[in-house]
Amino acid sequence: MKKKIKITVLAISILVISGCSNANSQPNHSMMNNEEMDDSMMNMDGNMMGNRHMSHDGVVSLNDSTGENELKIPAMLERDNKEEVAYTVRAQIGKTEIFDGIETNTYGYNGTFLGPMLRLEKGDTVKIRAINELDENTTFHWHGLEVAADADGGPHDVIKPGEEKIIEFKVEQEAATLWFHPHPEGKTSEQVYNGLAGLVYIEDDNSKSLGLPTDYGKNDIPLIFQDKTFDDKKQLNYRAAMNDDGTIGDTLLINGTLNPKLTVNKEKVRLRLLNGSNARNFTFKLNTGDSFIQIATDGGFLNAPVTLNEITLTPSERAEIVVDFSQLNLENGLALINEDGSVLLPFEVSDQSGAISRIPGEMNDFSLTVEEKDLPVTKKVELFGMMDMVMINGKKFDADRIDFTQQQGVTEVWEIYNRPDMMGGMIHPFHIHGTQFKIISRDGEEPSEYEQGWKDSIAVHPGERVKIAIQFNHKGVYMFHCHILEHEDNGMMGQIEVK
Ligand code: C2O
Ligand code: CU
Ligand code: CU
Repeated sequence: MKKKIKITVLAISILVISGCSNANSQPNHSMMNNEEMDDSMMNMDGNMMGNRHMSHDGVVSLNDSTGENELKIPAMLERDNKEEVAYTVRAQIGKTEIFDGIETNTYGYNGTFLGPMLRLEKGDTVKIRAINELDENTTFHWHGLEVAADADGGPHDVIKPGEEKIIEFKVEQEAATLWFHPHPEGKTSEQVYNGLAGLVYIEDDNSKSLGLPTDYGKNDIPLIFQDKTFDDKKQLNYRAAMNDDGTIGDTLLINGTLNPKLTVNKEKVRLRLLNGSNARNFTFKLNTGDSFIQIATDGGFLNAPVTLNEITLTPSERAEIVVDFSQLNLENGLALINEDGSVLLPFEVSDQSGAISRIPGEMNDFSLTVEEKDLPVTKKVELFGMMDMVMINGKKFDADRIDFTQQQGVTEVWEIYNRPDMMGGMIHPFHIHGTQFKIISRDGEEPSEYEQGWKDSIAVHPGERVKIAIQFNHKGVYMFHCHILEHEDNGMMGQIEVK
């Protein structure tokens, strides 16, 4: 209890000191009602111990994690048999005890909430038996996997209730932390919100030889961040919580754990961060102000580790970071906190020293060539609008319309422009299926070191123009869209046919 108060005080003082430095980091136009506004104002001004505060631009803050529950680690999915890389993944309906003694109706893969972790290796030929046990259509989309469009699980790949499908692909890309989730047209946000999301790890010779922490659940920890709103019966009532501009909740779940804490040894711990929220942006930092090391972006390792004090991930983005718990001062309690100071994940550090691992200075050979940088822009994407009037190049999604075509294996430069609106606009996390791309520039400037790696989603700020170099290695029709899931469902999505 004592520790919790300390963390809260610390978090709030960081909030006060840091002020409103990062005005663009939250997704929404102001969407609070007055009641919430009054409530949170009072906490800011009057009751400093209150744990429901409001960030500078009107997004409901997350309740601080009390740390009373040990973080759940998703099970590693077992193969169906020894002879082949075959897995079964079922989308299911279930009940989950998120709050003590209360059953919440949820969705999950091979379980009642969220899904297992699929560990694949580069070179694997993978066969997945995907079964829909829901009472509505769904799809199985592999976010970040470079696979042929017929295995990608976009809105065209519907599996009806009670039906199943065998999905086959070969893993040809390098080690990375990817994920999977449903993608049925107009229903992605609700199905993800109800609990459909799981992890895909790709490992390769490089990832296994670098000497990084690799002990799953011990010093190599997945963290799926999702914010939810629970109604007074502690149910996820998506229709009631839904906001056309992105559904934001006040309750954080990490790997489906309410009020999580993570117990670690005094060692280097690798955290694989996934923003699995419908719409909320996170800016992760340590409550002590200490730095950490980023080692990977969405689609692979950085060439060299980057030291950071904070990292922002918009919906669907991933980053891998390493925190060295043998080097940190533990006296005042350590926690991962958000931009506005809310406590996301308190750490409990044991006395044990743990494994010896290292962060090598060279991890990858990612490069953006001069030729790629000099290519002319051949595709332009303009993101515009808000609420249910969100569009790409002035159009809403039409499953029967192909917006772009590109040749297989040919690199093109896309320019993505986020056209501001009268209220200033908001960040749109722009995602492309079936490939990993390279950022050439943001408003003409070279991207920061921590973005110089493979990406499949990119935060585009209001008024910003981002250039990316992109190549597809497989054929078929792929989606590109805003990964604020309500924007996607509202039609901020287009299709590219790779020929
Ligand atoms: Cu995370 Cu269209 O996908
Ligand atoms: Cu995707
Ligand atoms: Cu958007």
